[in-house]
Amino acid sequence: MLILGIETSCDETAVGIVEDGRTLRSNVMASQAAIHAAHGGVVPELASRQHIRDMQPTLNRALSEAGVTLDQIDAVAVTHGPGLAGALISGVNTAKSLSLTLDLPLIGVNHLVGHIYAGWLAAVDRAPSEDPGFPLACLVASGGHTDLVLMEGHGKYRLVGRTRDDAAGEAFDKAARILGLGFPGGPEIQKAAESLADFEEYRGGADEALTLASTPLPRAWMRGTLDFSFSGVKTAMLHRAQDTGLYPPPELDSPESDSPDAARLVALLSAEFQESLVDVMTAKLLTMAEQYGARGLVLGGGVTANARLRQRVLSDSPLPAVIPRPALCTDNGAMIAAAAFYQYQRGDVSDLTLDVDPSLGFDLAA
Ligand code: KG4
Ligand code: ZN
Repeated sequence: MLILGIETSCDETAVGIVEDGRTLRSNVMASQAAIHAAHGGVVPELASRQHIRDMQPTLNRALSEAGVTLDQIDAVAVTHGPGLAGALISGVNTAKSLSLTLDLPLIGVNHLVGHIYAGWLAAVDRAPSEDPGFPLACLVASGGHTDLVLMEGHGKYRLVGRTRDDAAGEAFDKAARILGLGFPGGPEIQKAAESLADFEEYRGGADEALTLASTPLPRAWMRGTLDFSFSGVKTAMLHRAQDTGLYPPPELDSPESDSPDAARLVALLSAEFQESLVDVMTAKLLTMAEQYGARGLVLGGGVTANARLRQRVLSDSPLPAVIPRPALCTDNGAMIAAAAFYQYQRGDVSDLTLDVDPSLGFDLAA
């Protein structure tokens, strides 16, 4: 069964084609990152407009890369929430017109469930027989969510932990902004943290600031709960940046902006910030897995593209971990098509009354 999945919840216009929920036939994305970067975050009005522009060409490319025509598609799936209302509408309306004109089943998919199902795409290089059994302990960490979800079977999700303030991705994005790095912030922080290795030979610089920048940032353990809180470490990061002279960031072409001192401080602070988030996310995921007797772990969402997080989960977990490759962790259409296959199997299909639900969560995703 060939399902075409459409995803427009935020700033990617994405269309993927997946066979039987696992085999990736194509996965095409038109990213708006460059448009929003100038504003330091996603501007909803610009996102809605750009989705309308990018939808048709993205759809055509997804079909041609999969080597199929529309009449070979068996069902149309679309993200209907959570996300930006205006952005979601363009995907939902496109899916409805395809469903109506081609007389195809329409399947509305929860974006967060889609992130989990990225782990079922064969592109993660696992035969069905190697699937870890249920229950699975899932971490969905994106720009808007940091959720710990117990997946007891296909379609059976229990939200057991969530962030009480900022999402992990949002915290990465804000930290990057404080450090004068680009948008989206997660990959920039990762890159800056990895660049620390380049400074090994460099011994100059203001020692007091370097010592401060190398001091670990706090971790919000929130003992006794599986919930997260990232606003404290974000504030600690702002203070650290102020105390080391990094904030406010120097003008891009000023002499300080490319001094080895500043770059080294940015690298140190990025590494400490990343470590704080990764530590807490890894520990809470493993605690949850133990508490609920999970047989495996699943990672999903843009933040789980983070190399350090992936490495820590793999090294610390006694359980098998399903970690989609980075391009499948960030928003894409294939994950929506993959999730839709399992929904279709149990008759969970929508009709033309399908509406967007910007605040859809796991609690509603039965
Ligand atoms: O799932 P996603 O693509 O979109 C949403 O559903 O929000 O997640 C986007 C988030 C952004 O905040 C971005 O900074 C973060 O994922 N992200 C990362 C990395 N790649 C993307 N965070 C940390 N490390 C990364 N390598
Ligand atoms: Zn997402």
